[in-house]
Amino acid sequence: MAQNKPKEEGKASWRHYNFVTAGPVDDYLYSMLPERDAVLAEMEDHATKHKIPIVGPAVARVLYQLARMIDAKTVFELGSAIGYSTIWWAQAVGEAGQVVYTDGDPKHAERARGYFNRAGVSSRITLHTGDALEFLSEQKQQFDIVFNDVDKEDYPRVLRLVSPRLRKGGLFITDNVLWSGRVAEKKPKLATTKAILEFNRLLYSSGDFFTTILPIRDGLAVALKK
Ligand SMILES: C[S@@+](CC[C@H](N)C(=O)[O-])C[C@H]1O[C@@H](n2cnc3c(N)ncnc32)[C@H](O)[C@@H]1O
Repeated sequence: MAQNKPKEEGKASWRHYNFVTAGPVDDYLYSMLPERDAVLAEMEDHATKHKIPIVGPAVARVLYQLARMIDAKTVFELGSAIGYSTIWWAQAVGEAGQVVYTDGDPKHAERARGYFNRAGVSSRITLHTGDALEFLSEQKQQFDIVFNDVDKEDYPRVLRLVSPRLRKGGLFITDNVLWSGRVAEKKPKLATTKAILEFNRLLYSSGDFFTTILPIRDGLAVALKK
């Protein structure tokens, strides 16, 4: 686990000092990122101020890039909060695309709706407030991408739901799979760490997916549906 402490006080919440790409390398990676547009920049500030855990711009760019690489037109997102990652997906799928936003907190959904309008992507996004896993289980269509960013204890359950709802050649992408490096602990204590360890083991051993964990920020699992 990286031990470096942030140089600046009040570093953005999506740049927690215990994340795996921490310290000077992290500073370098973030220093190269182009400026975001006004709405995304405002959302980053809001997330930092209110300690809302968003993927942040370095991971968001990976999400955008992966979607463009497979020409994704449909994305189902589990755990959308204020809609930061949702907007990156919406921009990646283009005007003809559709992104499903899900979050259990109606206040997040209300704020997200405002951002979607201002970002000019609301016609590409369907908002669902409630349990994301339940809503995914009701889906009859197959998506190009399923993005998993819900409570960590639910990760193994999400994995069991995903495969039938993802097209062949589609991507199942999951954030926080290195959990601030806790996955390397000899005796993991937290229930969240244990759930992530189980999830990673099941994902890598699944016959349905070809998986790689990208060690960016807090670890991003990218699984290709075979
Ligand atoms: C890490 S945040 C999502 C951040 C967002 N993906 C982003 O990067 O902009 C996780 C969100 O998932 C929501 N959440 C957690 N478990 C959920 C569930 N089972 N169903 C719906 N929402 C859930 C929480 O309310 C929280 O807002």
